[in-house]
Amino acid sequence: MSPAKTASRAAAKTRANSQPWLHQKGAEIQAFGSVRQFPVALSHDTRMYSCQRLNALLADTQILHALYKKHHWLVRGATFYQLHLLLDKHADEQLALVDTIAERVQTLGGVAVGDPRLAAELTRIPRAPDGVEEIPAMLSRLLEAHETILTDAHEAAARAAGMGDDGTSDLLVSDVIRTGELQAWFLAEHLVDTPLVKA
Ligand SMILES: [Fe+2]
Repeated sequence: MSPAKTASRAAAKTRANSQPWLHQKGAEIQAFGSVRQFPVALSHDTRMYSCQRLNALLADTQILHALYKKHHWLVRGATFYQLHLLLDKHADEQLALVDTIAERVQTLGGVAVGDPRLAAELTRIPRAPDGVEEIPAMLSRLLEAHETILTDAHEAAARAAGMGDDGTSDLLVSDVIRTGELQAWFLAEHLVDTPLVKA
């Protein structure tokens, strides 16, 4: 029997044993920053533009989600319990946004930022210290991250609408902006210096 036939029989036997084909490598089949053609009635240029704006916001949202989890873990003091719960709720909502934005990029034929190391390269949100900050500094850091995202989302929503990408504009307004604004309100109210016991 030829070596090729022997190999093919061995391969067939392996399959019959339901052995997974492990350690496979392959060429990249779509480059980051490119878009495939989908029949969604939007031009190549519009979809390229929207994907670039969405990926920048996706990177920022991934970092904001991580910051919420970090502060959920590291918060301390008299308001520990309420902030521990609130920051986790916001983290969950940001994580849902990460999925929503990423799937919009895919819907437009693009490649979503999927590796946190790429997100770290792309984000415009400053890196927090690895150690522990005081609560007002943590909350201020989160509010500034929200405003960075909101500023960009307003601008991107208007540009996307101007280019005919109503779906992206709607997602940015209805999901990213509304969620961010509400979370910013809840955070900001914790930075009001109001008496707890005596007026
Ligand atoms: Fe937790």
